[in-house]
Amino acid sequence: MKRMLSGIKPTGQLTLGNYIGALKNFVSYQDDYEMIVFIANLHCITEYQDPADLRKNLTDAVALYLACGLDPQKSIIFLQTDVHAHAELGYIMACNTYLGELNRMTQFKDKAAKGEKNMTAGLYTYPCLMAADIILYDADYVPVGDDQKQHVELTRDLTQRFNNKYGETFVVPQPLIAKVGARIMSLSDPSKKMSKSDETNKGCIYLLDDLSLARKKIMSAVTDSLGIIQLDKENQPGLYNLIEIASSLSGRTMEDIVKEFEGQGYGKLKAYVADVVCAELEKIQARYKEIIESHKIEEVLKDGALKASAIADKKMEDVKKKIGLEIKY
Ligand code: AMP
Ligand code: TRP
Repeated sequence: MKRMLSGIKPTGQLTLGNYIGALKNFVSYQDDYEMIVFIANLHCITEYQDPADLRKNLTDAVALYLACGLDPQKSIIFLQTDVHAHAELGYIMACNTYLGELNRMTQFKDKAAKGEKNMTAGLYTYPCLMAADIILYDADYVPVGDDQKQHVELTRDLTQRFNNKYGETFVVPQPLIAKVGARIMSLSDPSKKMSKSDETNKGCIYLLDDLSLARKKIMSAVTDSLGIIQLDKENQPGLYNLIEIASSLSGRTMEDIVKEFEGQGYGKLKAYVADVVCAELEKIQARYKEIIESHKIEEVLKDGALKASAIADKKMEDVKKKIGLEIKY
């Protein structure tokens, strides 16, 4: 069975973008792949997080993983810091990465270009840690949203470089980007991706949003003044995004949804999108509540950490041997 691995960095509450672009796909893959999913808590602290908020977000993220349908019987689910090999291999990968490669990463470049102050070295070397996360487990595929493709491509380069320098050690992973839903856009500004760090809070639906608030955000989503329901991503990006959201949640094709609403006003379409989104959120939130109350999380993480460490620790032994870091005694 091929192995698949992915992580989410819960710096805030998980969003509908995380669900459609990542989580929902993990769930559908877990029957056909050996699935490893982790909470990337080390990646969270590349920027300061209030400790109490961070702890709450991490707990919620695990609960939401389970609520969205990840099954600990089928997938290995764990917290990154519970497996020490991540940080260790992250450092080793940083020693095999050139500054020029990190300078090219758009996520970093965008932040630097915005003139963000106090950018940390951790933020800069983040892709090295991400590479370590993936190759520690010899993952064949990495399902991610569009924004992470470049990081997985860098991982491929770093892996090939390591294998060439030290001999075949790691599987070279491939990114897996879904055709629909890989980039859900902000509801208030469809030129930007829907993101946890949305300042206005209008463009982003959180998985734990009140249903009435989620509905309100969709009904007031920015569209256009053309007034025609059709698929024109370039000229009607807001409308396209809404149809894409409904399509990925309902399983209907985007064309099918257009056909149903053709010739009608945007309000009708928005109401349909809101219905689809709210039905999905309602299911997730009900399960989330059960999971939080059941105190199941600790048990899931303990078991996941054991299983993940068994794989990762073995790999680290091989890595240290190949590099010449270990002394036999
Ligand atoms: P992050 O929240 O940045 O840790 O992202 C976790 C996963 O969700 C990654 O695979 C991202 O590519 C995916 N993701 C985040 N935001 C979106 C979005 N707006 N649309 C689609 N996928 C997303
Ligand atoms: N960088 C990813 C993000 O921000 C999260 C992440 C960390 C990840 N390590 C990973 C995703 C390994 C896939 C594989 O979304």
